[in-house]
Amino acid sequence: MSKDHIILTGFMGSGKTSVGQLLAHKLNLPFVDLDHLIEQDEGRSIREIFQTQGEETFRKLESKAIHKALAEPRSVIATGGGALMIEENTRLLKQRGQMVYLQAEPETLWERVQWNDDRPLLEKHSTLEAFSSLLQSRIPNYKQSHFIIDVDHLTLEEVALCIMELVAE
Ligand code: S3P
Repeated sequence: MSKDHIILTGFMGSGKTSVGQLLAHKLNLPFVDLDHLIEQDEGRSIREIFQTQGEETFRKLESKAIHKALAEPRSVIATGGGALMIEENTRLLKQRGQMVYLQAEPETLWERVQWNDDRPLLEKHSTLEAFSSLLQSRIPNYKQSHFIIDVDHLTLEEVALCIMELVAE
């Protein structure tokens, strides 16, 4: 397994995929989006996996995708918002890379994702209150990342540059 992946963590809507793509481009590294990797391997969308096999199966596929991504050469990896809910995932990710938590206020995240229908968990958390309470329950896990960036008022470009400074230290 290679070390020193750059791993983006955080809740839905924090910009892991968009920032990850930009950062990978700037650093000339491959970009791996774990949700996309699962969809590719399974030949189905995340929504379909949740609908037909349920969240538990999705979490197993997510752990498998983490192993697969970490075995590749150094890359920028965007995790799904629930990836750190499994301790073993966090342990592995922490060991193999530099984890950066893209932190944002619930209102910012909600504004970005509330109309999005690719995210099955929004069905069960369909109000700002329910969405915020899911976020709150996950914050301790995200905070296990090596670095934290408050992204509410930053552009994608600014977040990417900030990560480049952090990981170069
Ligand atoms: C999830 C977040 C999603 C995706 C799946 C479950 C979660 O990824 O992995 O819908 O548990 O928060 P994003 O964080 O990229 O939306």
